[in-house]
Amino acid sequence: MGRLDGKAAVITGGSQGIGRATVELFIAEGAKVVVADLLASEGEALCDRLGPDCVFCKTDVTVEDQVRNLIEVAVKRFGRIDCLFNNAGILGQTGGIESMEVDRFDRVMASHGRSVMLGMKHVAPYMKQQGFGSIINTGSISGIQAVSAYMDYSAAKAAVIHLTKCVAMELGEFGIRVNSVSPGQIATGMGKTGPDALEKAAVLRELNKTRQPIPRSGMPEDVAFAALYLASDESSFVNGHDLVVDGGLIGGSSWTERQRMSASVHGALQRQA
Ligand SMILES: NC(=O)c1ccc[n+]([C@@H]2O[C@H](COP(=O)([O-])OP(=O)(O)OC[C@H]3O[C@@H](n4cnc5c(N)ncnc54)[C@H](O)[C@@H]3O)[C@@H](O)[C@H]2O)c1
Repeated sequence: MGRLDGKAAVITGGSQGIGRATVELFIAEGAKVVVADLLASEGEALCDRLGPDCVFCKTDVTVEDQVRNLIEVAVKRFGRIDCLFNNAGILGQTGGIESMEVDRFDRVMASHGRSVMLGMKHVAPYMKQQGFGSIINTGSISGIQAVSAYMDYSAAKAAVIHLTKCVAMELGEFGIRVNSVSPGQIATGMGKTGPDALEKAAVLRELNKTRQPIPRSGMPEDVAFAALYLASDESSFVNGHDLVVDGGLIGGSSWTERQRMSASVHGALQRQA
């Protein structure tokens, strides 16, 4: 028996990375899935491989008409919509506040904040009618801790996490749960496609090994399992929560780092004495 037997889900940004891993896991757990993405050939190939319970709907999640259509496609195809995973997103711009490009800033805000708002806006009427549903939005640890290197992205993710909590307070009364998942350093090809994406993911997989207390890189499947829990009935009393999946990265300094710091302070004091 699958943990999502009989459920229907929409997963945005499902053609690659975290979204694709979640599509594969949801299908393996018995769900029917509509995959939404701008990358049509990758999304269609994924659905061909996974069979008739997986359908692709080309969607730009920043455009209201396309998001409305996506939700309608899911309801028409599967007759219900148990879960919406608002996961699509793009990278922020590097550089400080003085070099911020306004168009790019708006695009980053729209890719994360507006898309999540639109998904929730258009799925809410269907979920209210059903009296149940689970909405999962992709935040980030950058939405919790300020990341000055990608300040537009960091601010957009903070908005996603906060909007999630606001909407959870509204829709909980209708039996709809709204939560976010905040990944840490995950080895994906984010911002790249095809072979370049594979190459970036492989590089990150190595680089990320020592960034957090858990001595391996975060993988797309780690986030997919968090989404699986939030989509399933196992989390039926979890609402307005941000589930951090970062191997302990923002929990504090690691044991080894702390010991090194204590040893250097101790050494400096001894030298002074
Ligand atoms: N990889 C990480 O370390 C990490 C960390 C924290 C949060 N996240 C978040 O996880 C989510 C998935 O990221 P990923 O690492 O899998 O990246 P990815 O680039 O591999 O996947 C993102 C997907 O979203 C799609 N997409 C982008 N803009 C879109 C739009 N306007 N409409 C429809 N689809 C669109 C892309 O085509 C792509 O398939 C993003 O929201 C990202 O911000 C990633």
